Amino acid sequence: MGYVYDPMICRPFCLKIDKLTSLVIKPLLHSLKRRKLVVNGAEANKFFLSNEFKLVVSSWPSSSVQLMGENSIMEKQGEAHRCLRGIVATSLSSTGLENLVPKICSTIENHLEKHWNGGEKAIGLYSLTKVLTFTIVLECLLGIEVKDGMLEVFERVLEGVFAAPVNFPGSKFSRAKSARREIENMLVDVVREKRKEMEKKEQENGEGEGILLSRLVAALIRSEISEVEVLDNVVLLVFAAHDTTSFAIAMTLRMLAHHPNCYSILLKEHNDIMRGKRPKETLTFEDTKMMNYTWQVARESMRLFPPIFGSFRKAIHDIKYDGYTIPRGWKVLWTAYGTHYDPKYFEDPLSFNPSRFEDPIQPYAFVPFGGGPRLCAGYQLAKLNILIFIHYVVTRYDWSLVSPDEPITMDPLPFPSQGMPIRISPKLP
Ligand code: HEM
Repeated sequence: MGYVYDPMICRPFCLKIDKLTSLVIKPLLHSLKRRKLVVNGAEANKFFLSNEFKLVVSSWPSSSVQLMGENSIMEKQGEAHRCLRGIVATSLSSTGLENLVPKICSTIENHLEKHWNGGEKAIGLYSLTKVLTFTIVLECLLGIEVKDGMLEVFERVLEGVFAAPVNFPGSKFSRAKSARREIENMLVDVVREKRKEMEKKEQENGEGEGILLSRLVAALIRSEISEVEVLDNVVLLVFAAHDTTSFAIAMTLRMLAHHPNCYSILLKEHNDIMRGKRPKETLTFEDTKMMNYTWQVARESMRLFPPIFGSFRKAIHDIKYDGYTIPRGWKVLWTAYGTHYDPKYFEDPLSFNPSRFEDPIQPYAFVPFGGGPRLCAGYQLAKLNILIFIHYVVTRYDWSLVSPDEPITMDPLPFPSQGMPIRISPKLP
């Protein structure tokens, strides 16, 4: 038995996993060619995700590959993947991100100052968290200044990532392709400028300011990667972080609004952190380690509303699994829902119960960030982004949902269909 939130009305209902397959997954596959299958359960997730490069390789739609670029990390295999992942993961590890906390805090404070202040009002939470996530990835992680209009161009690319790859004028895909060219023109100057500056300063080791872009450009100077690899991976990182982190934040706030008891516990956690600080003193990495309950709430929200449905793997050999043979060339779709709503792994799976994360969860049962060699490289950044943003929101604002039952639409990534409007008013000091 498995459960799913009705994506149209966003209310839970229960149905058999085979029904889930026929209601949600078959229509998804209908438009695609045959030779695909769907797997569910922690054992299957473990088998297919951990056998990346050995039995399967990740397999993205042609439009995604064309728009992210053939040189992005998601298209790399084996040694090339290991090399690029090493560069990207160093900046995205907790040690790499520790120094970013003050910058993330000041970016969030500026964002709130610009978009949230001005007394009592209603705002579109989802689109604003996208503005924030974009700024955090570009400015804090990569060290690239956000200029006017940049977000809109990136979003036009993202709109085409799952569109049919038909290149006729006016189609989503062709608009996305031309936006991708615009981005390349923008970024190529940034990368060349950075290269000149680093060669002049002989900073090829990539340490110091500029962060991930410096590391990528340092690898470029050492001829480990090409200029096009730098560009493709900058675009990929924005794509990987954008809708996912924003949706996770939106769903965490939504679930808090629906569960006032959880909200009280969470608020106490943040007030306790504030009590140990001087007025205006900023958060530290150590403070984020005290946000255990907040991270449980965020994980429970991602369990019920995974930002990524799942993804495809392609068999590179004939695979024997569970008594079946999956022929070489077939595609396998692993899904987060297949385990997140299964009572075998999560007792009373429809209930919102953040405390379930106090106990260890069976490996590969909770998979919003995937698993195996392609486990989300940005997991730690997403975590910091979510925790710090929630901290500022709950300690500085009273807020409520405008449409508590707003439907969640899947296209194919999930998003709140009305942009999740919330009413906010600043808390009195
Ligand atoms: C809540 C937020 C996020 C979620 C739910 C999420 C989810 C995922 C998932 C499920 C995968 C694996 C896809 C697969 O196996 O095919 C993945 C991969 C990846 N993610 Fe995330 N992600 C999030 C945020 C981020 C952020 C903030 C970044 C970086 C800025 C990022 C960078 C990446 C990269 C580079 C990969 C590819 C890893 C590889 O192929 O080795 N993600 N993410």
